Amino acid sequence: MEVYTTNGKETPEPVKAQITGSLPAWLQGTLLRNGPALFSVGTSEYNHWFDGMSLIHSFTFSNGEVHYRSKFLKSDTYKKNIKADRIVVSEFGTMIYPDPCKNIFSRTFSHLCNVIPDFTDNNLINIIRYGQDYYASSEINYINKIDPATLETVAKENYRNHIALNLATAHPHYDDEGNTYNMGTALMSFGLPKYVIFKVPADGSDKEKKKPALRKVQQIGSIPFRSTLCPSYYHSFGMTENYIVFVEQPFKLDIVKLATAYFRGVSWGSCLKLDKDDITLFHVVNKHTGKAVSTRFYGDALVVFHHVNAYEDDDHVVFDMITYEDSNLYEMFYLRNMRKEGDDFTESLSSFAPPVLQRFVLPLNVHKESPRGSNLVTLTDTTATAVMQEDGSVYCKPESLFTGLELPAINYKFNAKKYRYVYGSRVEYTPHPNQIAKFDVVSRKYSMWKQDNCFPSEPVFVASPGAEEEDDVSPFLLVLDAKTFDELARAEIPATVHLDLHGLFIPAAV
Ligand SMILES: [Fe+2]
Repeated sequence: MEVYTTNGKETPEPVKAQITGSLPAWLQGTLLRNGPALFSVGTSEYNHWFDGMSLIHSFTFSNGEVHYRSKFLKSDTYKKNIKADRIVVSEFGTMIYPDPCKNIFSRTFSHLCNVIPDFTDNNLINIIRYGQDYYASSEINYINKIDPATLETVAKENYRNHIALNLATAHPHYDDEGNTYNMGTALMSFGLPKYVIFKVPADGSDKEKKKPALRKVQQIGSIPFRSTLCPSYYHSFGMTENYIVFVEQPFKLDIVKLATAYFRGVSWGSCLKLDKDDITLFHVVNKHTGKAVSTRFYGDALVVFHHVNAYEDDDHVVFDMITYEDSNLYEMFYLRNMRKEGDDFTESLSSFAPPVLQRFVLPLNVHKESPRGSNLVTLTDTTATAVMQEDGSVYCKPESLFTGLELPAINYKFNAKKYRYVYGSRVEYTPHPNQIAKFDVVSRKYSMWKQDNCFPSEPVFVASPGAEEEDDVSPFLLVLDAKTFDELARAEIPATVHLDLHGLFIPAAV
């Protein structure tokens, strides 16, 4: 799959796309995308696709025209690697020797509680907004501010200067007022280890945009680890009108292994393990008070990266996410697997558990006298169950909605609300997307767009102004009508565009 693993190039000056079809006149703004694109420097290579150095793309839609440009994120990691003409900074799946962070790791032997791995600032996963600031983001304490107009890397920011955490997700949520909600993990050094929920207010940026909106961050609440030395890995979370939904899955980061990985000669990625015999815990935290719902909701072991949506319905919290039976997805993205072709590639896929869109329903009206052994879900449009156990905890079984969809996107105006349509990349029998799909969670029907030798990445929904129906219109670089999935227009870019991961559409100011 060379399309993934060859090094991408940057196109620093804007190039005009050739449009066929007709772009909607209202489609004005900039689609920013992020993803790994540089997998080797000099003669040294990364081991894993998610280690590749970030390339930021922009597609600017203006008056029926599209301009494309891309620049490598000029992170400290990028600068150090390019200067040395080899990879000198460790990534999650690639440990480099000697590493400039070695001193930090050697401290761990004398006092494990001080372990704060100083990770790379190669923020390759998504574009996120805090206030009026746009950041390239991965899942660690560093984020890099970028200028969405020029794609210049403006400033490196450290969450830790504002709030005590070591890891943070690249998939925050935004409410209707423009406030940003995110979650992070505080490991050892800040008192008891915990998952932290925080909010950055929409008006956090100063007028000159010199001070980061992050300085106004507010901690909403926290959840203690169920196992002190093995916090769960999580890539995203759910948000309803009143609650944050956090899934504490048995896919865990082993802190002791993490602290000693450098000396054991293994990557940090090898410190992630799925405990298939363990359970999954579901936490529901009121985002206004920070208080967690006291009911202990749990389910069978699962692995989740992407939540799709969550909402409240008649005293229940309903949430949909893309789940796996195992953690092989991370394994699949080792470059040695991705470079396989033909039968070798097909064979390596035999261990790939498909992604399943599942709906969980948590009843909020649970009380001490609730009947044991009975299903407390009273919604009639789902087969998901939540059964009260003898000890007062509630065992939740999901309803499986669809198999083979990843990189989910929705009309974000319906985030935290009852919704109908999921857009995503179809990943049938392969972890690599080969179709764009739209799934109707009510009718269970699905439509798709595909073209031979095309590898569409995550679709991004942009609502037309005044749109009332949920599936009014959705563009992409390929612009599809979200209702019919007909092709409206495509913008052919006269430059190379490397495959990416996630992105964010910034509407033009009106
Ligand atoms: Fe993601």
